[in-house]
Amino acid sequence: MKVGIDKLHFATSHLYVDMAELATARQAEPDKYLIGIGQSKMAVIPPSQDAVTLAANAAAPMLTAADIAAIDLLVVGTESGIDNSKASAIYVAKLLGLDRRVRTIEMKEACYAATAGVQLAQDHVRVHPDKKALVIGSDVARYGLNTPGEPTQGGGAVAMLISADPKVLALGTESSLLSEDVMDFWRPLYHTEALVDGKYSSNIYIDYFQDVFKNYLQTTQTSPEALTALVFHLPYTKMGLKALRSVLPLVGANQQAQWLAHFEHARQLNRQVGNLYTGSLYLSLLSQLLTDPQLQPGNQLGLFSYGSGAEGEFYTGVIQPDCQAGLDQGLPQRLARRRRVSVAEYEALFSHQLQWRADDQSVSYADDPHRFVLTGQKDEQRQYLDRQG
Ligand code: COA
Repeated sequence: MKVGIDKLHFATSHLYVDMAELATARQAEPDKYLIGIGQSKMAVIPPSQDAVTLAANAAAPMLTAADIAAIDLLVVGTESGIDNSKASAIYVAKLLGLDRRVRTIEMKEACYAATAGVQLAQDHVRVHPDKKALVIGSDVARYGLNTPGEPTQGGGAVAMLISADPKVLALGTESSLLSEDVMDFWRPLYHTEALVDGKYSSNIYIDYFQDVFKNYLQTTQTSPEALTALVFHLPYTKMGLKALRSVLPLVGANQQAQWLAHFEHARQLNRQVGNLYTGSLYLSLLSQLLTDPQLQPGNQLGLFSYGSGAEGEFYTGVIQPDCQAGLDQGLPQRLARRRRVSVAEYEALFSHQLQWRADDQSVSYADDPHRFVLTGQKDEQRQYLDRQG
């Protein structure tokens, strides 16, 4: 039985900052951000969006009434949680109108958690093939103004419907995992921005990729040539390129050229959004499948998921004949229609998020065109609005 990704959708903010403009404001060469980091635009997440609203905005447009009736598992992977106890998935389930008889859970392991959700969902559907699982990776990536990590911020959510006989990608049952205690990136409970040793985290990322990739090839007796393209977690798109380059010596010149050409499509949409932590690998998958005319049904893709702290996983999937029908076809146009904000406006939005305080607060949301918005906090409870509700 084939099990895998049946539908794949994305949501981010309607605002972005231009990376050349940000570089100039930070006294950096624009090419450092555009080429050295590999980012053209960065999503600016307004105070009216958080991990919950982004997740609901990603999932709602793709779900039919039949999907909603069949979903009995909802996993939200996030490291931008809004509560130390209650799962963001509970809020998301309510906004989406899911049935009460659904297992709702939030998962955390830095940028890796959505992959744990996909694997849990895959196993669940193999046991209950008449059911569907909804997995969402949703985050706001924040490092702080004027920090080295600033050009690698962004945010958004990727929603995946996991089912039997999937339209998009049939997932392999084998994968290679690695998990160890590494202090490359973490966020203590009292911090709103991540603590990171950026260079160290980039090196650990490559070490983990090499380890799980080679281990996968060896333990599954797979030739690297059997993989048409490799898709990466992209905290910034140059990161994936560095990892890809590190394994090029394993294959011949033709395959090297093919992998590099496919990678340009895999990073196309991520270049315009920035980091989105848990959803990043899956936005790259969406980018690969939406923009790469050379890919065909039957092609096998390798996927590398990485979360600092650290955990890595490599697994594969095969493109299905009806792939395009399951994808967020309107995404490139939506990204093109976003409003560019100045660096000053971005800084103001960055600093005016809902505060981690007990008092009632309100958030300006009139300019936010999304269906689900955060309007504020009342009696220590976040207030969400469904404009179609
Ligand atoms: N033209 C082209 N490239 C340029 C350039 C220019 N004018 N100026 C600098 N660069 C290149 C550098 O050579 C470097 O490339 P390399 O990584 O291939 O060597 C790249 O731009 C970045 O420059 P660097 O000086 O290393 O940047 P930085 O010290 O400001 O920090 C990160 C870069 C990624 C470490 C930082 O943004 C960060 O900490 N990000 C968050 C952590 C993260 O995303 N980790 C990834 C694993 S999860």
